Amino acid sequence: MAGYDRNFTDELRARLSIVDVVGRRVPLVKKGQNYWGCCPFHNEKTASFSVNEEKGFYHCFGCGEHGDIISFTMKTNNMDFRAAIAELANQAGLKLPEYKPRDPAQVAREDTYLSITERAAKLYQQKLFEDAGAHALSYIRGRGFTDDMIKKYRIGYAPKNNIVANTMANVKQDALVSTGLCRRGEYGMYDFFRDRLMFPIFNTRGQIVAFSGRSMDGSEPKYMNTTDTEMFHKRKTIFGLNFARDAIYRAGRSIVVEGQIDAIQMQSHGFGETVAPLGTALTEDHIAILCKSNRNITFCFDGDKAGQKAAARACAIVMPFLRDTSDIRFAFVTGGKDPDEVLKNGGDAQMRKIIDDATPLVDFLWNTTNNNFLVSTPGGRASAEKFLDKELEKIQDPALRREYVNEYNSRKFNEWHKWKKGGNAKSAAPVPEIDAVTINTLVYIIGAYPDLAERYGDFLASLNIDFDRDATDMNLSRDGAEKYLVSLKAQKYIEKLNFQKRELMSKMLNGDEFAREEIIRIDNEIARTNDKLETLISI
Ligand code: UTP
Ligand code: MN
Repeated sequence: MAGYDRNFTDELRARLSIVDVVGRRVPLVKKGQNYWGCCPFHNEKTASFSVNEEKGFYHCFGCGEHGDIISFTMKTNNMDFRAAIAELANQAGLKLPEYKPRDPAQVAREDTYLSITERAAKLYQQKLFEDAGAHALSYIRGRGFTDDMIKKYRIGYAPKNNIVANTMANVKQDALVSTGLCRRGEYGMYDFFRDRLMFPIFNTRGQIVAFSGRSMDGSEPKYMNTTDTEMFHKRKTIFGLNFARDAIYRAGRSIVVEGQIDAIQMQSHGFGETVAPLGTALTEDHIAILCKSNRNITFCFDGDKAGQKAAARACAIVMPFLRDTSDIRFAFVTGGKDPDEVLKNGGDAQMRKIIDDATPLVDFLWNTTNNNFLVSTPGGRASAEKFLDKELEKIQDPALRREYVNEYNSRKFNEWHKWKKGGNAKSAAPVPEIDAVTINTLVYIIGAYPDLAERYGDFLASLNIDFDRDATDMNLSRDGAEKYLVSLKAQKYIEKLNFQKRELMSKMLNGDEFAREEIIRIDNEIARTNDKLETLISI
């Protein structure tokens, strides 16, 4: 590896899957854990050349050739090391850094950095069990952390004073500052983390490259993370991966949650394959790193609006990584605000169920599309189609992309156009006739107030009207428009209730006692809705 900074060759290995690199030259088929093909280094007819995606190595059982993406590129292209690195950088879409002999000063700097973070972690760990850290210890225990967990994740406490700056006063200031643990102030060095519960952030080799500190008195920000340093890049760091590696391999998938406490609790409750991004939304780099192990990821986001948004974002980012063996799913937390709470309230079984019930990507993308666009109108459908096309274009394998296109074409036909053929099959009531003035008003509202059209999308779709026409201009405010929609909805609801009532009447006449009760219920509902309607009209 001489010549390039080891970060860059690591980065190439992280960004490029060996299956993709080898797959460009040798057709590979997955059998068991490995991929197999005919060895490019000797002549053979039966496949004895195996590629292990997880480990990043290939091995030929016929001729004994063995290596990684770099040696494969060198040998199959007859290139030297530098040319192979350039070729791989090109495949990964990365800019080739300047070629320079490995800088011994940089190696020394990295060693110093790691010795500082290691020493700091030990100090924090000690403080957690001293008087100064008593509140932190009781806090973390209160969150269900056992002493084994505290030890394994090396959780600590950064006291109120400048413990790192003071204890390491003999260390070069530049070195302390480079780790992000200390800053230079008017009165000398001070610590970045004070009075915080400390979570070390490990690289994949298990070395501490940064910290995340949680406040315990409600002060903001709740979590402070080391700002990016020479050895810590938030966008490329996955919390918990050093512990999850083996489990991800064994489980054949990873689970991604939103927060680090969630990741630790999941790992400690039978979901060892769980990781989390760190103080940032999920990035392409995160996905690329996970996909190196396997392409099966279950995203498990919080049940709130932010969680929905995060899921949609994850979906958009993961599309280019899809292969026909990928299994990408989206799970939504219920019974608690995040996995940590679910585990506390409902236990492992509840969490297992949430993970097992996760929605496959093909359905998640479809649902997202239907929720974000008013697919009961031609304009909404056109926007939805453009959105879907844009997402599917990201799929790199043409055969897989075609399958997705076909799948959605059939869904569009069966689900989007069903309403044209006589309305929603679920409601037994026929759709009442709508007069031309009402239609004009609705078309006007959809054009003038798209947000209302979206909010009342389900209702508008249920009317079974062809909205693809021009409306004559009207003088209707947004408030007026909303009032109009709400009262029309109430009217239609009453019509539907009356229809149900008529059906029940005939049942009742045939002696169905249950129908009588239902009619009373419906009458009440009609009266209630009428009241509402009257109040609305009188305002
Ligand atoms: P949450 O606010 O959902 O935190 O942020 P959480 O995991 O539930 O934390 P607890 O349970 O209250 O302790 C999710 C993640 O976003 C990052 C952290 O990595 C956190 O785990 N975050 C959150 C920050 O970086 N800064 C913040 O101020 C808040
Ligand atoms: Mn939480």
